[in-house]
Amino acid sequence: MKQETPANIFAAAERHRWHASEPGIWSVHGADLDSIPAQSILVTLWDQPRWLEAYHLYDQRGSELFERICDLPEYYLTRTENAILEKHAGDIIANAPVRCIAELGAGYSKKTVHLLTEQLRQRGSSIFAPIDVSAAGLRASRDAVRAAFPAITFHGLHARYEDGFSAIDKNLPTLFVFLGSTIGNFNHTDFPRFFRALSAAMGPKDYLLLGADRIKSVKVLEDAYNDSRGVTAEFILNVFGNINHLLGSNFDRGKMRYHSWFNPEWRQIEMYAVANEPQEVRFPTVPTAFQWQKDEKILVEISRKFDPVRLQEQLRFFDLRAVEHYTDANQWFSVMLLKKVAKADGS
Ligand code: AVJ
Repeated sequence: MKQETPANIFAAAERHRWHASEPGIWSVHGADLDSIPAQSILVTLWDQPRWLEAYHLYDQRGSELFERICDLPEYYLTRTENAILEKHAGDIIANAPVRCIAELGAGYSKKTVHLLTEQLRQRGSSIFAPIDVSAAGLRASRDAVRAAFPAITFHGLHARYEDGFSAIDKNLPTLFVFLGSTIGNFNHTDFPRFFRALSAAMGPKDYLLLGADRIKSVKVLEDAYNDSRGVTAEFILNVFGNINHLLGSNFDRGKMRYHSWFNPEWRQIEMYAVANEPQEVRFPTVPTAFQWQKDEKILVEISRKFDPVRLQEQLRFFDLRAVEHYTDANQWFSVMLLKKVAKADGS
């Protein structure tokens, strides 16, 4: 097994911060990714309307439910994106002459396999560096990649996206991969913050492969988030089980329902939990409480839908220029290859 030293992937100023917590998996010294400050959940729950950050959805059960969503007949996103990547992986890799593929998210899905297969076919060896806050996800990815692609060097970065992509050496030609339309979860504050940080972390030989779900008929969109088997409802309401577990609160799953719709002005699916009856939600460790009124909605997740032309125009303002745009026959989903370009003023 070929094992590269961290010097081959981390920027010089970053090397001392990272250590191999286990083979192939790097962590930042002293970083505590598991501590979820109760305060951050309370701040959004005390907002008007009340809302939650989407990453709380992915506890063990939430991750399992999301896997089931991806197989639902109504949820076209995953299989449409997969088909695009399967068809165009060769072209994508040919257009992005890199030595490293850095995926945001643990990744060992069909889509990643298409890219790694082509990278190996066209370039021989390569580095695969997934970035994820889940150590379990990275471990599974490492074991699968090492078994299927022994010529690929695996460096999993156990970190938040920003900490991970900022640590990678700007001189190492890297293709950053951010798929699944996860950008759809970003609100109007998260979105510019994310792209500003990613663009700043990218070197002149770096590329970004971005998956974005597109605006389409409201019926298709709404069905994808309100499936007939109720798996999406389970997934969304499961967040309260996770929060009860984290904070010792008493959200009552039996007294709430799921509601989602496409908000045309904001061009986003909004996924809510709605109280069926009034309830006092208590947080004994703080301690504090709030009255969840009957029919009051808590916004659990948004999934923004994009016009790819508009998105490309917007990404230019982050010095990201579209090189290629891949889509499916229905034009339901877009996969864009973007390149980091120097600023017009040369700075
Ligand atoms: C993982 C954020 C891309 O927005 O489609 C699926 C999550 N939520 N069904 C999406 C999700 C409900 C998904 N993303």
